[in-house]
Amino acid sequence: MAKRIKVFAPATVANVACGFDVLGFAVQEPGDEVIVTLSDTPGVRIHSIQGDNGRLPREAERNTVSISILNYLEKLGIHQGVEIDLIKKMPLGSGLGSSAASTVAGVFAINELLDKPMSVMDLLPFAMEGERIACGSAHADNVAPCLLGGFVLVRSYDPLDVIKLPVPKNLYATIVHPHVEVQTKDARNILRKQVELNDAVKQWGNVGGLVAGLLLEDTALIGRSLQDVIIEPVRSVLIPGFDEVKQAAMDAGALGGSISGSGPSVFALSTSMEKATVIGQAMSAAFAKYSIESDVFVSPINPEGPKVIG
Ligand code: HSE
Repeated sequence: MAKRIKVFAPATVANVACGFDVLGFAVQEPGDEVIVTLSDTPGVRIHSIQGDNGRLPREAERNTVSISILNYLEKLGIHQGVEIDLIKKMPLGSGLGSSAASTVAGVFAINELLDKPMSVMDLLPFAMEGERIACGSAHADNVAPCLLGGFVLVRSYDPLDVIKLPVPKNLYATIVHPHVEVQTKDARNILRKQVELNDAVKQWGNVGGLVAGLLLEDTALIGRSLQDVIIEPVRSVLIPGFDEVKQAAMDAGALGGSISGSGPSVFALSTSMEKATVIGQAMSAAFAKYSIESDVFVSPINPEGPKVIG
């Protein structure tokens, strides 16, 4: 049995406009890397964390990666010493599913090292618990696409029912990460708990439209369905220049777009890598008008999720 493994897990766009907490997709990059090493010393330990500027907890009982691995080992009744090295390659509080990527990489890595006693789908609840620790809510719309790859629908949380959807080959994502920080916990706390019936009708029409668009490979329908009348109007106030950034994406040829996860990143979908690149430049230029620097990520939808890289 191998004693050490290095796993990459990708960034994800949660919500995808209309699907708050129920839709998400994975991209090729960025992503986080985790090295898991089996040890003869009992217990699960964080050996090192790079790239977080010292912000993530190093204590095993408080870190999402180590807690998820601990829960996994406990569930299997395995008393195995484990050392974790976490390499953060994406910013915290960015809306890119940063905590999800680390947690997924961790549970995927330990499961591989132990010769896959669990299916990938069985790993999902452990990764969801990691989200609860990271931001107070065990939502699955980052961890599920991160783990399964592709475009994922969380039809139900109780019981958990997660469906991987087909994706048209010509679907590309642009994600622009402005250099401001929004904590998921804060972005959830500002949401209203009640929804107007006419807004709900629009929202579930769009969720159905988006899923139908993916199944029918109808990119125009996907574009028409990328509308969020419930969450985006509330959260967009946390993102300086949001309306102009979104408009810039549309003017540059995007099918549609919205806030990526809980923000501040903004995503757009389009039908070619060239368009996705031009859209990214336009969005970044719109942020620059507000004196906000940004990073642009352009990628096809990532069909595979985590991968062993060493
Ligand atoms: N669905 C979650 C939210 C995703 O919007 O709060 C967080 O990345």
